[in-house]
Amino acid sequence: MDVISVIRAKRDREELSDAQIDWVIDAYTRGTVADEQMSALAMAILLNGMNRREIARWTAAMIASGERMDFSSLSRPTADKHSTGGVGDKITLPLAPLVAACGAAVPQLSGRGLGHTGGTLDKLESIPGWRALLSNEEMLSVLDGVGSVICAAGDGLAPADKKLYALRDVTGTVEAIPLIASSIMSKKIAEGTGSLVLDVKVGTGAFMKTLDDARELAATMVGLGTDSGVRTVALLTDMSTPLGLTAGNALEVRESVEVLAGGGPADVVELTIALAREMLDAAGLRDADPEKALADGSAMDAWRRMIAAQGGDPDAALPVARERHVVTAPASGVLTRLDAYGVGVAAWRLGAGRARKEDPVQAGAGVELHAKPGDRVAEGAPLMTLHTDTPERFEYALESLTGAYDIGTGEGFAPSPIVLER
Ligand code: URA
Repeated sequence: MDVISVIRAKRDREELSDAQIDWVIDAYTRGTVADEQMSALAMAILLNGMNRREIARWTAAMIASGERMDFSSLSRPTADKHSTGGVGDKITLPLAPLVAACGAAVPQLSGRGLGHTGGTLDKLESIPGWRALLSNEEMLSVLDGVGSVICAAGDGLAPADKKLYALRDVTGTVEAIPLIASSIMSKKIAEGTGSLVLDVKVGTGAFMKTLDDARELAATMVGLGTDSGVRTVALLTDMSTPLGLTAGNALEVRESVEVLAGGGPADVVELTIALAREMLDAAGLRDADPEKALADGSAMDAWRRMIAAQGGDPDAALPVARERHVVTAPASGVLTRLDAYGVGVAAWRLGAGRARKEDPVQAGAGVELHAKPGDRVAEGAPLMTLHTDTPERFEYALESLTGAYDIGTGEGFAPSPIVLER
């Protein structure tokens, strides 16, 4: 087998055979297929697509490139959630302990932010002492003891995807449905969860800008999960405006703790409960009541134990950025649009995200919103506060907010529902 014939086949819109797929994934993982060759193949896949058989085989080959985890020793059913990424999407933080408090085991292998979307591990690392890197034994022990764990995926899990994802990120080949679906599902299937709920984001702040694309991605991932014996459900949820009132690491941890304390913004609470219900249902825990677990403090208790088990101090003060800049409303009226992408880029430029994988992030940086679409605002009143340790970034962040919001009469305004489809 040679890689050039595989690239040419996909370039010329041919179907790749099982043998070609197995060979190319294995050779790339071992380093005998070079990055430039794999990037040409990824671009050919982005342009010419893959059929269902090819996607399933590609996913299986990425799973086979590494180890598979096994949670069969746990007494509770496992349920996991994956979001395709958005702005202000802190849902994993309250959701994992909430679902654990309702009786499931939640093995939440999470990632870091890249670009304008935030990453769960970056957010949690703003808690003093908290560790994202756990050995497989430590992970199992936290999962067994607390019921939920949020940590980085180990190097042994789908190593082909780790290498390929980093390559796609710098070669303009992220936005290909076969590659996104196989990337996400190879990790989730290798992780060994019994059930999985996918939160597929749609809108300006998401990878998928249209409902049609989101539907295709969701259907592809649900098919891959189901065929591998993982009970898989997908919700399509709105990402045209940020979730909640914060985008940034420590800012989002604070908001998540508010939700666990029984408060927090209505959209974050609604989506957390909707996803918790789906996870509990998929795990066979149909009588569990997530609203009660939020109200009676048991979800908060699971959060505190989970953070402490990973070295964090749940009572420690969270970092606060040194500098602030308030953006005021230019007119009175109703905020009719607040663009998720513009706010996400602003938070990223303020230091909440990174431009290159090795960059550090600022724990306190980000955007705090004082109004959401549908709210009435008065001219000169605060619309949002920008937070950073490096004030020279304000100008650059403000550029991304130009044209990112509209204030009007509110006539004809209808807020988008959070859950668009199941
Ligand atoms: N998240 C992943 O893990 N992989 C992708 O390709 C896109 C989002």
